[in-house]
Amino acid sequence: MNSAILGTGSYVPNRVLTNADLERMVDTSDTWIVERTGIRERRLVEPGQACSDLGLEAAQRALSAAKVKACDIDLILLATCTGDAPLPSTACLLQHQLGATRAAACDISAACCGFVYALSIADAYIKTGMRHVLVVASEVMSAITDWTDRNTCVLFGDGAGAVVLGQGSEGSGILSTHLHANGRLPEMIHVPGGGSKEPASKDVLDNKRCFIKMKGNETFKIAVKSMEEAAHEAVNANSVAMTDIDVFIPHQANMRILKAVSQRLGLAQEKLMINLDKFGNTSAASIPLALDEAVHSQKVQRGQLVLLAAFGAGLTWASALVRW
Ligand code: UT7
Repeated sequence: MNSAILGTGSYVPNRVLTNADLERMVDTSDTWIVERTGIRERRLVEPGQACSDLGLEAAQRALSAAKVKACDIDLILLATCTGDAPLPSTACLLQHQLGATRAAACDISAACCGFVYALSIADAYIKTGMRHVLVVASEVMSAITDWTDRNTCVLFGDGAGAVVLGQGSEGSGILSTHLHANGRLPEMIHVPGGGSKEPASKDVLDNKRCFIKMKGNETFKIAVKSMEEAAHEAVNANSVAMTDIDVFIPHQANMRILKAVSQRLGLAQEKLMINLDKFGNTSAASIPLALDEAVHSQKVQRGQLVLLAAFGAGLTWASALVRW
C-alpha cells in the first residue's frame, strides 16, 4: 500500500520585503539579486509571529483540503531549522494548537531537505499501518538572518507548507523517497552559535555567530550535482523515464540552480515549478509551499507524475516521486 497525499496547504506572512527595500539596507541592487538569484521579494513575519504560527495556518489548510479532522491525526512531523525555541519541539506546540490530541509529535532537522525527509518518515509509518500523518515544514529564516550580510540576507524568506498523508492505493501516491547526507562539509551552510557548542552569549551575539553563514558559490555547484543525482535515483527506482515527469518541484534556492538542474535532466522549462521570485529561499518550507501553489493553480493534476528534489545544509539531499 502506498501513502496518498490527501491534501496540501501553505501560508506566508503578509509583510513583503522587496529588493528595493534591501537596496536601502545593504550594498546591493535589484539587478544583482534578480540576475544572480531570480528573487524579487520575500515574506517576513511580524514581530511575535513564530514558526508554530505559520505552521498552524498551513496545517489547518492542509487538513481542510484533506477533509481530515485534527483528532484523527496519529503523528505530526514538523520540519524546521527555526523552531519557536530549542525546547519543547515546535511540533508539540502545533499539536496543542490544532487540538490533535491523539497525535505523537516531533520536529525533524534536515535543513532545506527537512520536508522530503519528513515525508519519507511519514510514508514509512503509513506503509506500516498508521492512518494519518501531518507533515508540516515551517521556517522563520528572518530570525537567523544577518541583515547586514549582503551575501545571505537577500536570499531567505519566511513561510510554511503542509501535507496530510493517508492510506492510498498501489501505483499512486508516494512511489519512492531517497535520502542522503554527507556531514563532511558542515560549514558550507551553518549557524555556528547558539547551540551546545557555542551556547548563547553576548560574545556569540556580538560576533553574529547566531546567524546563517554560507559559502554560496561552492554550495551552488554541489547543489546542482546533488539534486540531479537524487532526481535520477527517483526515476530509476521506479523504471520511468525522465520524460515521463509532468511536474518538477525542486527546493527553491536559486533560479540559476533550478534551471541548471532541469536542463541537465532534460526537463522542459514548463515542467519546472518556480515561486522563489515571490518568496525567496524558505528552507524546508520551499517544496510544500511550491507544491501547494502548483496544486491550486492546477499545474499539478490527478494522475500526473511529480518529482520533488531538495538540497541543503548538512549537507543533505533527497528526492521523492509522487503519482498525484
Ligand atoms: O538552500 C540551501 C542551498 N543553498 C544554495 O544552494 C545557495 C547556493 N548559492 C547561491 O545561490 C549563489 O552562490 C549566491 C546567490 C549565494 C551568490 O551568487 P554567486 O553568483 O555565486 O556570487 P558570488 O558569491 O560568487 O559573488 C560574486 C560577487 C562578489 O563580489 P566580487 O568578490 O566578485 O567583487 C560578491 O561580493 O557578488 C558579490 N555579492 C553581491 N553583490 C551585490 C554577493 N552578494 C551580493 C549582493 N549584492 N547581495
